[in-house]
Amino acid sequence: MTTLTIMPAGRTVDAPEGASLLSLIGGGEPADHDCSDACHVSVLEGRKGLSRISSDENGKLDMIVGVGSKSRMACHATILGTEDVTVEILSFV
Ligand code: FES
Repeated sequence: MTTLTIMPAGRTVDAPEGASLLSLIGGGEPADHDCSDACHVSVLEGRKGLSRISSDENGKLDMIVGVGSKSRMACHATILGTEDVTVEILSFV
């Protein structure tokens, strides 16, 4: 199993294949996920350990300020289980 490191706190959690970044960062899948476009993270390491960016996620990224080449929306990106991942929380609910 791979691990996810969450910055700036440096918290490390087990990251099973198929889990979303949002669920891992939040400590469990939110019961009623309300999209507020506030799940922006920067992938510092292990970008290839995450699912590819979908057109839906691309649309969300297009709507927020401060997007960079390492940006992902945590509710869309899922763990592939191929390598450890480190993300930095940029905006979160
Ligand atoms: S919470 Fe809406 S894009 Fe992630």
